[in-house]
Amino acid sequence: MSATAIPAAGGAATATPSQLERLGEHLRKLRLRKSGERLEALLQQAAASELPYADFLEQVLGEEVAAKRSQNISMRTAMARFPFVKPLETFDFSYQPSIDKKQVLALANCHYIEHGDNVLVLGPPGVGKTHLGVSLGLKAIEAGYRVLFTTAAHLIASLTKAHAEGKLDDKLKLYTAPRLLIIDEIGYLPIERQGANLFFQLISRRYERGPMILTSNQSFSAWGEVFGDRVIATAILDRLLHHAVTLNIRGNSYRLKEKLKAGLIRSSDDNSQPGGEI
Ligand SMILES: Nc1ncnc2c1ncn2[C@@H]1O[C@H](COP(=O)(O)OP(=O)(O)O)[C@@H](O)[C@H]1O
Ligand SMILES: [Mg+2]
Repeated sequence: MSATAIPAAGGAATATPSQLERLGEHLRKLRLRKSGERLEALLQQAAASELPYADFLEQVLGEEVAAKRSQNISMRTAMARFPFVKPLETFDFSYQPSIDKKQVLALANCHYIEHGDNVLVLGPPGVGKTHLGVSLGLKAIEAGYRVLFTTAAHLIASLTKAHAEGKLDDKLKLYTAPRLLIIDEIGYLPIERQGANLFFQLISRRYERGPMILTSNQSFSAWGEVFGDRVIATAILDRLLHHAVTLNIRGNSYRLKEKLKAGLIRSSDDNSQPGGEI
């Protein structure tokens, strides 16, 4: 805080040093950090431009609210445990024409969360399933929801461990508490019978209450094999698909984009590359 009083445009001081000190103390007590940092500059600007009182107050409070919002978004983004942070605006829809851009942009409005609908993203590796999951998760955070991202393997390992330790209920609560749960990579690793049962328990708990985004490189018809049990897979899919939007991505891996460009490998459009169809 400066030692001299802040002069107004006409030369008169707008605040004395002791007044600034007291204001700083009030702002600290009220936890208005941004206003505390900006107070002197804002007072000087207001005096220089002879800002009306209401405009000045609006500016101070507006900056504080914006700072709190962005702090809150950063905190919830960290809590969501995304593998990377890529907003939807970084997704190149022109590279993946099988995705209905309008449908994805509609999902970005988060109405599906209000309705408790699930979003299932299917497609071969590298087509942007995780990217879309993360991007939609970020939109949900911006809209004020709590989000948690996990992979199927991590989720099942953590439920299995909790079950062995007699803490399954607490762990299930952890995964049912966030408004939106994103479960990535169903189908990359086979799931043991107990894991499939625990996964089913979680899906049942969230059913029609908490929306989920799930991604898989396997078609629904292959989920019997993924879960090692056709009956459990059917029960899981029955609940997931009751209220759901499915995005079926058919295309080339974005990871291989540069290689494709250079002609080092062939596109899945040739029908020569396995995994291009779901
Ligand atoms: N259409 C796209 N536009 C921009 N980046 C993309 C696109 N598709 C994939 N990527 C990027 O390519 C990489 C692989 O995508 P990812 O979402 O992990 O694929 P998947 O989960 O389907 O295997 C990531 O770094 C992702 O950000
Ligand atoms: Mg992925």
